[in-house]
Amino acid sequence: MSMRNVLIATAAAVLALGAAYAAETPNLGQPIAEADVAAWDIAALPSGVGLPVGSGNAVEGAKVYAAKCAACHGDEGKGGPIVRAPLFGGPPLTEGIDVRKTIGNFWGHATTLFDFTRRAMPFNQPRTLTADEIYATTAYLLYLNKIIGENDVIDAKTLPQVKMPNRDNFIIRFPDKI
Ligand code: HEC
Repeated sequence: MSMRNVLIATAAAVLALGAAYAAETPNLGQPIAEADVAAWDIAALPSGVGLPVGSGNAVEGAKVYAAKCAACHGDEGKGGPIVRAPLFGGPPLTEGIDVRKTIGNFWGHATTLFDFTRRAMPFNQPRTLTADEIYATTAYLLYLNKIIGENDVIDAKTLPQVKMPNRDNFIIRFPDKI
């Protein structure tokens, strides 16, 4: 048998095995309910798709931050006992590959801040914040990074309109997906 035929025979055998295997699946599981999917489907995209109803500004966010974030991130996002790096500032990225990357000098989309906080923060109690609390802390961190004003209202409409300083320095691999 030539190498080509060996390959074809092997591929055919694998396909046949696959078909037989598929036919003999144990038929476990059941269709998942929409409501169960919704609980996990919490992605917030840069376009604003996925952002919930609610709103907040930096003044409100400062209070939520002091109560629920400062223990790890320090007062006013300056860095604390658990996360030493500040949540704002940072030198220009043009200063080299090792430059500390922050929300202000690196993050491309403001919606990522909402998405990340909603799914991962507070680190020890993720997914315990209300939508208003997430909008408010998002506003507060954007304010600390001098990207929005203290009283600017952040919600599903305004958050995607916030232009992050580093946004245009990313190469968008799948522009139709954002
Ligand atoms: C128990 C400690 C703890 C608390 C409380 C906490 N965080 Fe964090 N936070 C972390 C840790 C640890 C990381 C780094 C996580 C990682 O890299 O995966 C982090 C990372 C972050 C980042 C990403 C920073 C960056 O530039 O990469 C943001 C934003 C953030 N936290 C926001 C918040 C907000 C908002 C709150 C309050 C609602 C909060 N955190 C409460 C521990 C905490």
